[in-house]
Amino acid sequence: MRILKAKDYLEMSRKAANLIAAQVIMKPDCVLGLATGSTPIGLYQQLIQGYQQGDLDFSQVRTANLDEYKGLTRENDQSYYYFMHQNLFKSINVKEENTNIPDGTVADSAAECARYDEVIRALGGVDLQLLGLGHNGHIGFNEPADSFAKGTHCVDLTESTIEANKRFFASADDVPRQAYTMGIQTIMGARKILVVVNGEAKADIVQKAFFGPVTPQVPASILQFHPDVTLVGDEAALSKIN
Ligand code: F6R
Repeated sequence: MRILKAKDYLEMSRKAANLIAAQVIMKPDCVLGLATGSTPIGLYQQLIQGYQQGDLDFSQVRTANLDEYKGLTRENDQSYYYFMHQNLFKSINVKEENTNIPDGTVADSAAECARYDEVIRALGGVDLQLLGLGHNGHIGFNEPADSFAKGTHCVDLTESTIEANKRFFASADDVPRQAYTMGIQTIMGARKILVVVNGEAKADIVQKAFFGPVTPQVPASILQFHPDVTLVGDEAALSKIN
């Protein structure tokens, strides 16, 4: 595992965006696995700048997002579809038909999960998967559990995730209780993984996930077994590792 330390959020965002930019330049039709949440917003801004300056061309890039709330429509401003369009897609030249996100409006979980796994398979797998890290060690919506989940599946969100995400909703009651997420096996199948973390609140879980025992109780700990992981964090998030 490579660890890149940045002095602050902006530098973390620049370093992470550079790695994604390198991927896009080296393989213009690459498949980028993308994440939502607050951590990647700065790096998406950097990618938009790279596009506006003429350094990056996303016209052949394909994308596959990690997850989506079940029950939210694309128009809902808390859906991950909406997030990706607001924070990245509408400002770069990626083609709409080349972007993929689980469809939260499909009620039949088994059908939607099978469809999404097939989408990723048909894309030829993910070249570079971007991940944020939940305070409880979740990646995507793979929550602490007794075993590592495999393919795309529908999860019941834990209280701690509902609590962490309620800041985006009018109240905790409005946070959807379920979500579709790529599974651990799908994530581990990516050829490269890029994890971004910032802030002191992530310091403990960074230490546990990357230097503690590998256990489904800390889903991100499985990344210790992946052959090509880069962790980019600011000083605060990396403060508990040597
Ligand atoms: C988002 C996702 C989540 C977040 C994680 C960290 O698509 O899959 O696992 O990456 O909850 O969120 P932030 O960046 O808001 O701390």
